[in-house]
Amino acid sequence: MFVHFVVLAIFWMPVTLQFVKMRSFLATPSCDDKISNIEFVAEHQARSDISCAAMCDVNCGCFGFNSQMKMCRIHQSCDLVNMTSTEGGWRYYQFDPPPDCKGVMESGGSTSGLYVIDPFGDRQRLVTVYCDMETDAGGWTAIQRRLSGTMNFDKTWKEFKSGFGVPQNAYWIGNDIIHHLTNRQQHSLYVIFKHNNGVIFYQKYEEFSIGDECTNYQLNLAGLNTGNLGDSMINAAYSSANLNGMAFSTMDRDNDQYSGHCATKYSGGWWFNNCHDAFLNGPWPPEYWHDPWRPTISSVSNIAEIRLMIKPTEMHAELK
Ligand SMILES: *[C@@H]1O[C@H](CO)[C@@H](O)[C@H](O)[C@H]1NC(C)=O
Repeated sequence: MFVHFVVLAIFWMPVTLQFVKMRSFLATPSCDDKISNIEFVAEHQARSDISCAAMCDVNCGCFGFNSQMKMCRIHQSCDLVNMTSTEGGWRYYQFDPPPDCKGVMESGGSTSGLYVIDPFGDRQRLVTVYCDMETDAGGWTAIQRRLSGTMNFDKTWKEFKSGFGVPQNAYWIGNDIIHHLTNRQQHSLYVIFKHNNGVIFYQKYEEFSIGDECTNYQLNLAGLNTGNLGDSMINAAYSSANLNGMAFSTMDRDNDQYSGHCATKYSGGWWFNNCHDAFLNGPWPPEYWHDPWRPTISSVSNIAEIRLMIKPTEMHAELK
């Protein structure tokens, strides 16, 4: 059983308030009076668990607080299997990562790269993802990433549901996670094709969400879309290539509008209609990957990286 509390640490710079950093921790009372066998990186006097938590910064994954000794121990990480020694008065607290990359950015992550997030909360399922902290004000969670020539995405329904791959080069975060995140609050979608010569093609959709498994993860796009790719997901050359409202299909689940089976024909899971003008999950040999983004990108032969990213939509007050 976990007890949840949130610590707010305010960092003052000489003149102005720079930012409010929020890190969340989960107490583990079931491990009371036990200590971690993994060496601590620092030990300080602390008045309370709250002041101890304030000492647990970006390099700290967990801390122990001893209410009798008023001591605080900072650890890089704690695994509960390593809580085997006994010493009276200790309670341990584990860092609970933010739900997405926007939360990572708000708690101090400022460079693009791999971060751990906790989309469902309470450390239910920690996932490592690629966070883009530069594009369009940063805070973008990559729900899909593909470096040229890496793994193909001809995966099963179950694999797309739970996620597969590694964020270092190719992964799908998982349809259940995409559904969970995009239904908690309004999200935008950002599509990136990075050319070998460094040029970036993108399209941003203001509103993006997907339904749950009972809807077959139905795709919902709304609002404006902008970018130098042009829209190929909604206003496709053929209405039968409009992906909006489409269910997800995989090699073992045919939910498309085609008499055949798009996911098998094009070797990858996606929100197919009959079948597509935009398809980011094709196979890497470019001759087998048709129309990744028709008509702007007709082949992936010069594409170094592809990413699908999401971020909670900024709510701006209306000016009157
Ligand atoms: C932590 O526990 C694991 C699993 O029992 C063990 O392999 C590892 O050596 C332990 N680490 C330390 C520092 O005791």
